[in-house]
Amino acid sequence: MSSDSAVVARAALATSAGQNLCVVGLQWGDEGKGKIVDVLTEQFDIVARYQGGGNAGHTVVIGSDKFVLHLIPSGILHSGKDCVIGNGVVIDPEQLMSEVTELRERGIEVGRNLHISDRAHVVFPYHKRLDELDGRKAEGRRIGTTGRGIGPCYSDKMARTGIRVAELYDREQLRERLKQNVEEKNRLLVKVHGLEPMDWKPIYDDYVRYAEQMREFVGDTISFLNDAAKKGKRILFEGAQGVMLDVDFGTYPFISSSNASPSGVAAGTGISPKLIGRVIGVAKAYCTRVGEGPFPTELKGKLGELLRERGGEYGATTGRPRRCGWFDAVAVRYAITVGGVDALALTKLDVLTGQKKLAVCVAYRCDGRTVEEIPAGASELAKCEPVYEELPGWDADIAACESFEELPPEAKQFMRKIEAVLGVPVEMLSIGEDRNQLVQRTVGSS
Ligand code: GDP
Ligand code: IMO
Ligand code: MG
Repeated sequence: MSSDSAVVARAALATSAGQNLCVVGLQWGDEGKGKIVDVLTEQFDIVARYQGGGNAGHTVVIGSDKFVLHLIPSGILHSGKDCVIGNGVVIDPEQLMSEVTELRERGIEVGRNLHISDRAHVVFPYHKRLDELDGRKAEGRRIGTTGRGIGPCYSDKMARTGIRVAELYDREQLRERLKQNVEEKNRLLVKVHGLEPMDWKPIYDDYVRYAEQMREFVGDTISFLNDAAKKGKRILFEGAQGVMLDVDFGTYPFISSSNASPSGVAAGTGISPKLIGRVIGVAKAYCTRVGEGPFPTELKGKLGELLRERGGEYGATTGRPRRCGWFDAVAVRYAITVGGVDALALTKLDVLTGQKKLAVCVAYRCDGRTVEEIPAGASELAKCEPVYEELPGWDADIAACESFEELPPEAKQFMRKIEAVLGVPVEMLSIGEDRNQLVQRTVGSS
Protein backbone atom coordinates (compact mmCIF):
# COMPACT_ATOMS: atom_id res chain seq x y z
CA MET A 1 0.00 0.00 0.00
CA SER A 2 1.21 3.49 -0.77
CA SER A 3 1.72 6.00 2.02
CA ASP A 4 -1.62 7.57 1.00
CA SER A 5 -3.25 4.22 1.17
CA ALA A 6 -6.82 4.13 2.28
CA VAL A 7 -9.78 1.88 2.05
CA VAL A 8 -13.43 2.66 1.72
CA ALA A 9 -14.75 2.01 5.14
CA ARG A 10 -17.93 0.52 6.23
CA ALA A 11 -15.60 -1.59 8.23
CA ALA A 12 -12.40 -1.62 10.18
CA LEU A 13 -11.51 1.57 11.88
CA ALA A 14 -8.12 0.96 13.40
CA THR A 15 -9.17 0.36 16.97
CA SER A 16 -7.11 -2.07 18.94
CA ALA A 17 -8.94 -5.18 20.01
CA GLY A 18 -10.84 -5.10 23.24
CA GLN A 19 -10.99 -1.35 23.43
CA ASN A 20 -14.10 0.69 23.93
CA LEU A 21 -14.64 3.86 21.98
CA CYS A 22 -16.32 7.19 22.51
CA VAL A 23 -17.62 9.08 19.47
CA VAL A 24 -17.99 12.74 20.35
CA GLY A 25 -18.90 15.92 18.50
CA LEU A 26 -16.17 18.57 18.55
CA GLN A 27 -18.21 21.59 17.48
CA TRP A 28 -21.71 22.82 18.36
CA GLY A 29 -23.47 19.56 17.52
CA ASP A 30 -24.76 18.07 14.25
CA GLU A 31 -21.26 17.10 13.12
CA GLY A 32 -22.48 13.80 11.67
CA LYS A 33 -22.08 11.66 14.79
CA GLY A 34 -25.07 9.48 13.88
CA LYS A 35 -23.50 8.46 10.59
CA ILE A 36 -20.09 7.74 12.14
CA VAL A 37 -21.63 5.72 14.99
CA ASP A 38 -23.68 3.73 12.49
CA VAL A 39 -20.59 2.92 10.43
CA LEU A 40 -18.58 1.86 13.47
CA THR A 41 -21.30 -0.14 15.23
CA GLU A 42 -20.37 -3.37 13.43
CA GLN A 43 -17.15 -3.52 15.44
CA PHE A 44 -18.87 -3.21 18.81
CA ASP A 45 -21.30 -5.24 20.89
CA ILE A 46 -23.07 -2.37 22.62
CA VAL A 47 -23.83 1.25 21.74
CA ALA A 48 -24.58 3.48 24.74
CA ARG A 49 -25.85 7.04 25.02
CA TYR A 50 -24.52 8.78 28.14
CA GLN A 51 -26.07 12.26 28.14
CA GLY A 52 -28.52 14.61 26.50
CA GLY A 53 -31.99 13.57 25.55
CA GLY A 54 -34.55 14.23 22.86
CA ASN A 55 -32.70 17.42 21.92
CA ALA A 56 -30.35 15.22 19.85
CA GLY A 57 -31.08 14.44 16.23
CA HIS A 58 -28.73 11.85 14.76
CA THR A 59 -29.21 11.08 11.09
CA VAL A 60 -28.32 7.82 9.37
CA VAL A 61 -28.86 7.45 5.63
CA ILE A 62 -28.92 3.96 4.15
CA GLY A 63 -29.69 4.14 0.43
CA SER A 64 -33.12 5.72 0.11
CA ASP A 65 -33.88 5.21 3.81
CA LYS A 66 -33.28 8.02 6.26
CA PHE A 67 -33.50 7.55 10.02
CA VAL A 68 -33.31 10.33 12.58
CA LEU A 69 -32.61 9.03 16.08
CA HIS A 70 -33.26 11.26 19.08
CA LEU A 71 -33.11 9.15 22.24
CA ILE A 72 -32.30 5.71 20.94
CA PRO A 73 -28.64 5.07 20.08
CA SER A 74 -27.80 5.03 16.37
CA GLY A 75 -26.56 1.46 16.80
CA ILE A 76 -30.19 0.27 16.85
CA LEU A 77 -30.16 -0.02 13.05
CA HIS A 78 -27.80 -2.99 13.29
CA SER A 79 -29.36 -6.25 14.37
CA GLY A 80 -27.63 -8.24 17.09
CA LYS A 81 -26.29 -5.19 18.91
CA ASP A 82 -27.39 -4.02 22.34
CA CYS A 83 -28.30 -0.37 22.79
CA VAL A 84 -28.23 1.40 26.14
CA ILE A 85 -29.78 4.66 27.25
CA GLY A 86 -27.61 5.40 30.25
CA ASN A 87 -28.41 7.00 33.59
CA GLY A 88 -27.03 10.35 32.38
CA VAL A 89 -29.68 10.73 29.69
CA VAL A 90 -32.95 12.56 30.34
CA ILE A 91 -35.89 10.63 28.93
CA ASP A 92 -39.18 11.93 27.64
CA PRO A 93 -41.24 8.70 27.67
CA GLU A 94 -43.73 9.96 25.10
CA GLN A 95 -40.93 10.79 22.68
CA LEU A 96 -39.18 7.53 23.44
CA MET A 97 -42.26 5.44 22.74
CA SER A 98 -43.03 7.26 19.51
CA GLU A 99 -39.44 6.62 18.41
CA VAL A 100 -39.79 2.94 19.31
CA THR A 101 -43.07 2.70 17.37
CA GLU A 102 -41.67 4.43 14.32
CA LEU A 103 -38.60 2.20 14.22
CA ARG A 104 -40.72 -0.92 14.62
CA GLU A 105 -43.05 0.21 11.85
CA ARG A 106 -40.02 0.56 9.63
CA GLY A 107 -38.92 -2.99 10.35
CA ILE A 108 -36.21 -2.25 12.92
CA GLU A 109 -36.09 -4.59 15.88
CA VAL A 110 -36.58 -2.78 19.21
CA GLY A 111 -37.06 -5.18 22.08
CA ARG A 112 -34.56 -7.06 24.19
CA ASN A 113 -31.81 -5.12 22.42
CA LEU A 114 -32.82 -1.83 24.09
CA HIS A 115 -31.82 -1.19 27.70
CA ILE A 116 -32.98 1.90 29.57
CA SER A 117 -31.43 2.91 32.86
CA ASP A 118 -33.73 2.89 35.85
CA ARG A 119 -31.64 5.78 37.18
CA ALA A 120 -32.19 8.08 34.19
CA HIS A 121 -34.21 11.20 34.89
CA VAL A 122 -37.63 11.67 33.34
CA VAL A 123 -38.76 14.71 31.33
CA PHE A 124 -42.26 15.86 32.31
CA PRO A 125 -44.62 18.26 30.52
CA TYR A 126 -43.76 21.00 33.02
CA HIS A 127 -40.12 20.79 31.93
CA LYS A 128 -41.17 21.44 28.36
CA ARG A 129 -43.50 24.26 29.42
CA LEU A 130 -40.64 25.90 31.34
CA ASP A 131 -38.29 25.35 28.40
CA GLU A 132 -40.71 27.20 26.13
CA LEU A 133 -40.17 30.29 28.27
CA ASP A 134 -36.67 30.52 26.83
CA GLY A 135 -38.23 31.80 23.61
CA ARG A 136 -39.79 34.71 25.52
CA LYS A 137 -36.48 35.92 26.87
CA ALA A 138 -34.85 39.06 25.52
CA GLU A 139 -32.24 38.79 22.82
CA GLY A 140 -28.87 38.21 24.42
CA ARG A 141 -30.42 36.11 27.18
CA ARG A 142 -32.28 33.66 24.99
CA ILE A 143 -30.47 30.35 24.41
CA GLY A 144 -32.55 29.13 21.49
CA THR A 145 -33.17 25.72 23.02
CA THR A 146 -34.75 22.78 21.22
CA GLY A 147 -37.76 23.08 23.56
CA ARG A 148 -37.45 19.46 24.64
CA GLY A 149 -37.36 20.25 28.36
CA ILE A 150 -33.70 19.37 28.70
CA GLY A 151 -32.44 22.30 30.80
CA PRO A 152 -35.36 22.25 33.27
CA CYS A 153 -35.09 18.46 33.68
CA TYR A 154 -31.34 18.58 34.39
CA SER A 155 -32.00 21.53 36.75
CA ASP A 156 -34.41 19.36 38.75
CA LYS A 157 -31.87 16.54 38.78
CA MET A 158 -29.27 18.82 40.35
CA ALA A 159 -31.84 20.44 42.65
CA ARG A 160 -32.78 16.93 43.85
CA THR A 161 -36.40 17.33 42.86
CA GLY A 162 -36.17 15.20 39.71
CA ILE A 163 -38.05 11.96 39.18
CA ARG A 164 -36.13 8.95 37.90
CA VAL A 165 -37.34 6.10 35.72
CA ALA A 166 -37.42 3.67 38.68
CA GLU A 167 -39.86 5.94 40.50
CA LEU A 168 -42.40 5.63 37.70
CA TYR A 169 -43.01 2.11 39.04
CA ASP A 170 -43.73 3.23 42.60
CA ARG A 171 -47.18 4.71 42.06
CA GLU A 172 -47.64 6.17 45.52
CA GLN A 173 -44.33 7.90 45.50
CA LEU A 174 -44.82 9.05 41.92
CA ARG A 175 -48.18 10.59 42.82
CA GLU A 176 -46.72 12.48 45.78
CA ARG A 177 -43.57 13.69 44.03
CA LEU A 178 -45.47 14.70 40.94
CA LYS A 179 -48.06 16.64 42.96
CA GLN A 180 -45.29 18.50 44.79
CA ASN A 181 -43.40 19.26 41.61
CA VAL A 182 -46.44 20.46 39.69
CA GLU A 183 -47.44 22.67 42.63
CA GLU A 184 -43.99 24.18 42.73
CA LYS A 185 -43.80 24.71 38.96
CA ASN A 186 -47.30 26.22 38.97
CA ARG A 187 -46.13 28.89 41.39
CA LEU A 188 -43.50 29.81 38.84
CA LEU A 189 -45.76 29.50 35.80
CA VAL A 190 -48.68 31.45 37.27
CA LYS A 191 -47.09 33.98 39.60
CA VAL A 192 -43.90 34.79 37.72
CA HIS A 193 -44.89 34.18 34.12
CA GLY A 194 -48.65 34.77 34.19
CA LEU A 195 -49.41 31.42 32.52
CA GLU A 196 -52.12 28.84 33.13
CA PRO A 197 -51.42 26.30 35.91
CA MET A 198 -50.91 22.65 35.08
CA ASP A 199 -52.92 19.75 36.51
CA TRP A 200 -50.89 16.87 37.98
CA LYS A 201 -53.55 14.17 37.51
CA PRO A 202 -53.58 13.83 33.68
CA ILE A 203 -49.77 13.88 33.78
CA TYR A 204 -49.80 11.11 36.37
CA ASP A 205 -52.22 9.01 34.29
CA ASP A 206 -50.15 9.46 31.12
CA TYR A 207 -46.88 8.61 32.87
CA VAL A 208 -48.30 5.50 34.51
CA ARG A 209 -49.28 4.37 31.02
CA TYR A 210 -45.87 5.24 29.54
CA ALA A 211 -44.18 3.40 32.40
CA GLU A 212 -46.02 0.22 31.43
CA GLN A 213 -45.10 0.69 27.76
CA MET A 214 -41.44 1.19 28.69
CA ARG A 215 -41.25 -1.57 31.26
CA GLU A 216 -39.75 -4.18 28.94
CA PHE A 217 -36.69 -1.96 28.37
CA VAL A 218 -36.03 -0.70 31.89
CA GLY A 219 -33.34 -2.16 34.10
CA ASP A 220 -30.00 -1.78 35.80
CA THR A 221 -27.84 -0.68 32.89
CA ILE A 222 -24.88 -0.04 35.19
CA SER A 223 -24.60 -3.75 35.99
CA PHE A 224 -25.41 -4.64 32.41
CA LEU A 225 -22.56 -2.51 31.04
CA ASN A 226 -20.04 -3.49 33.68
CA ASP A 227 -20.80 -7.20 33.34
CA ALA A 228 -20.48 -6.89 29.57
CA ALA A 229 -17.16 -5.07 29.92
CA LYS A 230 -15.87 -7.82 32.24
CA LYS A 231 -16.79 -10.40 29.62
CA GLY A 232 -14.71 -8.51 27.06
CA LYS A 233 -17.64 -7.06 25.13
CA ARG A 234 -16.86 -3.83 23.37
CA ILE A 235 -18.85 -0.69 24.03
CA LEU A 236 -19.24 2.33 21.79
CA PHE A 237 -20.30 5.46 23.70
CA GLU A 238 -22.34 7.74 21.47
CA GLY A 239 -22.09 11.39 22.39
CA ALA A 240 -24.91 13.80 21.69
CA GLN A 241 -24.47 17.54 21.10
CA GLY A 242 -20.78 18.50 21.03
CA VAL A 243 -17.96 19.70 23.27
CA MET A 244 -18.76 23.35 22.49
CA LEU A 245 -22.26 22.74 23.91
CA ASP A 246 -20.94 20.95 27.03
CA VAL A 247 -22.23 22.50 30.26
CA ASP A 248 -18.70 22.84 31.66
CA PHE A 249 -16.53 23.24 28.57
CA GLY A 250 -18.83 24.86 26.03
CA THR A 251 -19.64 28.48 25.33
CA TYR A 252 -21.57 28.97 28.59
CA PRO A 253 -24.38 29.97 28.98
CA PHE A 254 -25.12 29.22 25.31
CA ILE A 255 -24.81 25.51 25.82
CA SER A 256 -26.93 22.45 26.50
CA SER A 257 -27.22 21.18 30.07
CA SER A 258 -25.11 18.02 30.09
CA ASN A 259 -21.50 16.88 29.78
CA ALA A 260 -21.37 16.09 26.09
CA SER A 261 -17.60 15.61 26.16
CA PRO A 262 -16.17 12.17 27.02
CA SER A 263 -15.95 13.33 30.63
CA GLY A 264 -19.68 12.60 30.74
CA VAL A 265 -19.26 8.93 29.87
CA ALA A 266 -18.40 7.64 33.34
CA ALA A 267 -21.03 9.72 35.13
CA GLY A 268 -23.64 8.94 32.49
CA THR A 269 -23.19 5.16 32.27
CA GLY A 270 -21.58 3.94 35.48
CA ILE A 271 -18.58 2.66 33.54
CA SER A 272 -15.18 3.51 35.00
CA PRO A 273 -13.37 6.33 33.17
CA LYS A 274 -10.49 3.87 32.83
CA LEU A 275 -12.64 1.83 30.44
CA ILE A 276 -13.51 4.57 27.95
CA GLY A 277 -10.69 3.56 25.62
CA ARG A 278 -10.26 5.52 22.41
CA VAL A 279 -11.99 8.74 21.47
CA ILE A 280 -12.97 9.65 17.92
CA GLY A 281 -13.89 13.30 17.51
CA VAL A 282 -16.37 14.16 14.78
CA ALA A 283 -16.04 17.54 13.09
CA LYS A 284 -17.55 19.04 9.98
CA ALA A 285 -15.18 20.43 7.37
CA TYR A 286 -16.87 23.74 8.14
CA CYS A 287 -18.91 24.73 11.16
CA THR A 288 -22.55 25.11 12.15
CA ARG A 289 -24.50 26.19 15.17
CA VAL A 290 -28.25 26.15 15.90
CA GLY A 291 -29.66 28.55 18.44
CA GLU A 292 -28.01 31.57 19.98
CA GLY A 293 -24.47 32.20 21.18
CA PRO A 294 -21.12 33.42 19.92
CA PHE A 295 -19.82 31.92 16.69
CA PRO A 296 -16.61 33.64 15.55
CA THR A 297 -16.41 32.11 12.07
CA GLU A 298 -20.08 32.60 11.19
CA LEU A 299 -20.70 33.63 7.57
CA LYS A 300 -23.76 35.82 7.61
CA GLY A 301 -23.95 36.59 3.89
CA LYS A 302 -24.39 34.60 0.69
CA LEU A 303 -21.59 32.16 1.46
CA GLY A 304 -23.26 31.12 4.70
CA GLU A 305 -26.52 30.58 2.83
CA LEU A 306 -24.73 28.56 0.18
CA LEU A 307 -23.22 26.24 2.81
CA ARG A 308 -26.64 25.88 4.45
CA GLU A 309 -28.30 24.90 1.19
CA ARG A 310 -25.50 22.64 -0.03
CA GLY A 311 -25.11 20.98 3.36
CA GLY A 312 -28.84 20.70 4.06
CA GLU A 313 -28.14 22.55 7.29
CA TYR A 314 -31.55 22.49 8.92
CA GLY A 315 -32.00 21.05 12.42
CA ALA A 316 -32.72 17.31 12.52
CA THR A 317 -34.85 17.87 15.66
CA THR A 318 -36.45 21.28 15.19
CA GLY A 319 -35.99 22.01 11.47
CA ARG A 320 -34.42 25.38 12.33
CA PRO A 321 -31.87 26.75 9.84
CA ARG A 322 -28.36 26.19 11.14
CA ARG A 323 -25.93 29.08 11.19
CA CYS A 324 -22.93 28.24 9.01
CA GLY A 325 -19.29 29.33 8.95
CA TRP A 326 -15.72 28.28 8.25
CA PHE A 327 -13.89 25.58 10.17
CA ASP A 328 -12.84 26.95 13.55
CA ALA A 329 -9.61 25.19 14.49
CA VAL A 330 -9.29 27.19 17.71
CA ALA A 331 -12.54 25.76 19.03
CA VAL A 332 -11.88 22.24 17.72
CA ARG A 333 -8.32 22.17 19.11
CA TYR A 334 -9.73 23.02 22.53
CA ALA A 335 -12.42 20.34 22.16
CA ILE A 336 -9.70 17.82 21.28
CA THR A 337 -7.79 18.68 24.46
CA VAL A 338 -10.87 18.51 26.65
CA GLY A 339 -12.07 15.30 25.05
CA GLY A 340 -8.72 13.49 24.89
CA VAL A 341 -9.41 12.90 21.21
CA ASP A 342 -7.20 10.34 19.46
CA ALA A 343 -8.35 10.79 15.88
CA LEU A 344 -10.86 12.67 13.79
CA ALA A 345 -13.76 11.82 11.57
CA LEU A 346 -14.02 14.81 9.23
CA THR A 347 -17.48 15.02 7.70
CA LYS A 348 -19.27 16.86 4.89
CA LEU A 349 -16.11 17.55 2.87
CA ASP A 350 -18.29 17.20 -0.24
CA VAL A 351 -20.24 20.31 0.76
CA LEU A 352 -17.15 22.45 0.10
CA THR A 353 -16.85 21.27 -3.52
CA GLY A 354 -17.08 24.15 -5.99
CA GLN A 355 -15.80 26.79 -3.57
CA LYS A 356 -12.90 28.69 -5.19
CA LYS A 357 -11.29 29.59 -1.88
CA LEU A 358 -11.60 27.87 1.46
CA ALA A 359 -10.63 29.17 4.88
CA VAL A 360 -9.62 27.68 8.20
CA CYS A 361 -9.64 29.82 11.34
CA VAL A 362 -6.30 29.28 13.08
CA ALA A 363 -6.45 32.02 15.75
CA TYR A 364 -8.63 34.88 16.99
CA ARG A 365 -7.96 38.60 17.19
CA CYS A 366 -9.36 39.75 20.47
CA ASP A 367 -8.92 43.29 21.86
CA GLY A 368 -5.89 43.87 19.65
CA ARG A 369 -4.24 40.60 20.63
CA THR A 370 -3.88 37.37 18.69
CA VAL A 371 -5.04 34.42 20.78
CA GLU A 372 -4.95 30.72 20.10
CA GLU A 373 -7.09 29.67 23.06
CA ILE A 374 -10.82 30.09 23.26
CA PRO A 375 -11.78 32.60 25.97
CA ALA A 376 -14.08 31.49 28.80
CA GLY A 377 -16.56 34.35 28.58
CA ALA A 378 -19.29 34.36 25.95
CA SER A 379 -19.09 38.14 25.63
CA GLU A 380 -15.34 37.96 25.12
CA LEU A 381 -15.74 35.24 22.50
CA ALA A 382 -18.38 37.34 20.76
CA LYS A 383 -15.75 40.05 20.29
CA CYS A 384 -13.21 37.66 18.74
CA GLU A 385 -12.47 38.04 15.04
CA PRO A 386 -11.22 34.98 13.18
CA VAL A 387 -7.71 34.87 11.73
CA TYR A 388 -7.94 32.79 8.58
CA GLU A 389 -5.54 30.79 6.48
CA GLU A 390 -6.84 30.51 2.96
CA LEU A 391 -6.63 27.39 0.85
CA PRO A 392 -7.56 26.62 -2.74
CA GLY A 393 -10.80 24.78 -3.38
CA TRP A 394 -11.64 22.04 -5.90
CA ASP A 395 -14.33 21.54 -8.52
CA ALA A 396 -14.42 17.81 -9.06
CA ASP A 397 -17.32 15.96 -7.45
CA ILE A 398 -15.84 13.92 -4.61
CA ALA A 399 -19.03 12.23 -3.42
CA ALA A 400 -18.24 9.03 -5.30
CA CYS A 401 -14.57 8.74 -4.34
CA GLU A 402 -13.74 5.31 -3.03
CA SER A 403 -10.29 5.99 -1.70
CA PHE A 404 -8.22 8.83 -0.34
CA GLU A 405 -5.99 8.74 -3.45
CA GLU A 406 -8.97 9.62 -5.65
CA LEU A 407 -9.57 12.92 -3.92
CA PRO A 408 -8.41 16.09 -5.73
CA PRO A 409 -5.05 17.39 -4.44
CA GLU A 410 -6.75 20.49 -3.00
CA ALA A 411 -9.10 18.33 -0.92
CA LYS A 412 -6.13 16.40 0.46
CA GLN A 413 -4.34 19.68 1.15
CA PHE A 414 -7.37 21.03 3.02
CA MET A 415 -7.58 17.92 5.16
CA ARG A 416 -3.83 17.96 5.87
CA LYS A 417 -4.02 21.60 6.90
CA ILE A 418 -6.69 20.69 9.43
CA GLU A 419 -4.56 17.83 10.73
CA ALA A 420 -1.52 20.09 11.00
CA VAL A 421 -3.37 22.83 12.87
CA LEU A 422 -5.04 20.36 15.22
CA GLY A 423 -2.21 17.89 15.70
CA VAL A 424 -4.55 14.90 15.39
CA PRO A 425 -4.90 12.54 12.40
CA VAL A 426 -8.03 12.35 10.28
CA GLU A 427 -8.94 8.67 10.14
CA MET A 428 -12.30 8.94 8.47
CA LEU A 429 -13.47 11.31 5.78
CA SER A 430 -17.16 11.53 5.09
CA ILE A 431 -18.04 12.70 1.60
CA GLY A 432 -21.80 12.30 1.44
CA GLU A 433 -24.73 11.48 3.66
CA ASP A 434 -24.97 7.80 2.78
CA ARG A 435 -23.52 5.14 5.04
CA ASN A 436 -21.21 4.12 2.19
CA GLN A 437 -19.87 7.56 1.36
CA LEU A 438 -16.89 7.28 3.62
CA VAL A 439 -13.19 7.06 3.00
CA GLN A 440 -10.91 5.69 5.63
CA ARG A 441 -7.28 6.69 5.87
CA THR A 442 -4.90 4.22 7.33
CA VAL A 443 -2.93 5.43 10.31
CA GLY A 444 0.32 7.04 9.27
CA SER A 445 -0.77 7.89 5.70
CA SER A 446 0.43 11.27 4.56
P1 GDP B 1 -25.41 14.51 14.37
O1 GDP B 1 -26.38 15.20 15.26
O2 GDP B 1 -24.00 14.80 14.71
O3 GDP B 1 -25.66 13.03 14.23
O4 GDP B 1 -25.64 15.15 12.92
P2 GDP B 1 -27.06 15.45 12.22
O5 GDP B 1 -27.66 14.18 11.77
O6 GDP B 1 -27.88 16.35 13.06
O7 GDP B 1 -26.59 16.35 11.01
C1 GDP B 1 -25.69 15.89 10.05
C2 GDP B 1 -26.37 15.96 8.68
O8 GDP B 1 -25.41 15.82 7.66
C3 GDP B 1 -27.37 14.84 8.44
O9 GDP B 1 -28.37 15.29 7.59
C4 GDP B 1 -26.52 13.77 7.74
O10 GDP B 1 -27.30 12.91 6.91
C5 GDP B 1 -25.62 14.64 6.91
N1 GDP B 1 -24.28 14.11 6.63
C6 GDP B 1 -23.47 13.38 7.45
N2 GDP B 1 -22.25 13.21 6.86
C7 GDP B 1 -22.31 13.85 5.67
C8 GDP B 1 -21.37 14.07 4.63
O11 GDP B 1 -20.22 13.67 4.67
N3 GDP B 1 -21.80 14.80 3.54
C9 GDP B 1 -23.06 15.29 3.46
N4 GDP B 1 -23.38 16.00 2.37
N5 GDP B 1 -23.97 15.11 4.42
C10 GDP B 1 -23.60 14.42 5.52
P1 IMO C 1 -27.03 16.65 18.26
O1 IMO C 1 -26.85 15.48 19.20
C1 IMO C 1 -27.11 20.96 17.69
C2 IMO C 1 -28.43 23.38 21.09
C3 IMO C 1 -29.73 24.13 20.93
C4 IMO C 1 -29.45 25.32 21.83
C5 IMO C 1 -28.66 24.71 22.97
C6 IMO C 1 -29.50 24.35 24.19
O2 IMO C 1 -28.00 16.40 17.18
O3 IMO C 1 -25.71 17.16 17.78
P2 IMO C 1 -31.25 22.40 24.67
O4 IMO C 1 -32.54 22.09 24.01
O5 IMO C 1 -30.26 21.29 24.65
O6 IMO C 1 -31.40 22.97 26.05
O7 IMO C 1 -30.64 23.61 23.79
O8 IMO C 1 -28.06 23.54 22.45
N1 IMO C 1 -28.50 21.92 20.84
C7 IMO C 1 -28.04 21.33 19.74
N2 IMO C 1 -27.49 21.85 18.63
N3 IMO C 1 -27.21 19.63 17.83
C8 IMO C 1 -27.72 19.09 18.94
O9 IMO C 1 -27.73 17.76 19.19
C9 IMO C 1 -28.21 19.95 19.95
N4 IMO C 1 -28.80 19.75 21.15
C10 IMO C 1 -28.95 20.96 21.68
O10 IMO C 1 -29.95 24.51 19.61
O11 IMO C 1 -28.62 26.24 21.17
MG1 MG D 1 -28.01 16.48 15.14
